[in-house]
Amino acid sequence: MSKIKICQTPELLAEDAAKKVIGSIENNVSIKGEADIALSGGNTPKLLFEMLLKNHKDELEKLKINFYWCDERCVPSESKESNFGEAYRLLFSKINLSGYIYRMKGEKNPPDEAERYSSMMKNNLKSKNEFPEIDLILLGMGDDGHTASIFPGQLQLMNSDKVCVNSVNPYSGQNRLTLTGKVLNNSAEIIFMVTGKNKSKIVKDVFEDSDSSKEYPVSFIRKDDSVIWYMDESAASLI
Ligand code: 6PG
Repeated sequence: MSKIKICQTPELLAEDAAKKVIGSIENNVSIKGEADIALSGGNTPKLLFEMLLKNHKDELEKLKINFYWCDERCVPSESKESNFGEAYRLLFSKINLSGYIYRMKGEKNPPDEAERYSSMMKNNLKSKNEFPEIDLILLGMGDDGHTASIFPGQLQLMNSDKVCVNSVNPYSGQNRLTLTGKVLNNSAEIIFMVTGKNKSKIVKDVFEDSDSSKEYPVSFIRKDDSVIWYMDESAASLI
């Protein structure tokens, strides 16, 4: 069963989650000399980036951390929509990293970039279950039950044999790049960060394993004690 950590506010959640992220990174660095983590986009991680900068700048600069992404919007990195762009503006531009940043190039032709990113991950990361193994992934959840950029109606991407694919936001038609379900579930650790009352019903469905939850890609992310759901009281109000 996944672990749950309920925090009073998004700010307290980000503070706690930042400590957990740093702990995971330190553990991986002590074992293999570096940590490979994949970030998600959206608004929730922005608080995490601010907390990491405020409370953990020294660790981030001392530890060898390689950053990947779980997904990206197909826009230039200068765009406010860019997941990499926001992480760069809020965090990476303000620290001296000793590891590498492997961004998904949202400005490139999506299918070509999906292929490139897949090959790069296979080359960089060790293989487990025939897929690249990331040490830690950070995931969010949309109020429609999407995670990374796998949306309802795209459940086949949870079982794709590809590593990274071009998906589409069905509401805006925006092209996306996303790691597939097998890669997301192949990571050693998973941290969800979910905030807001608008997510509480989906959270309830997912944790009660309701029939309607079967439409949500997020329901197909594994549930075991290497997965922790950080939620604020609003998102967790129905469980
Ligand atoms: C993205 C994200 C996406 C996000 C959810 C939640 O690129 O949009 O990777 O999966 O995690 O939409 O977003 P919020 O944190 O903004 O609610």
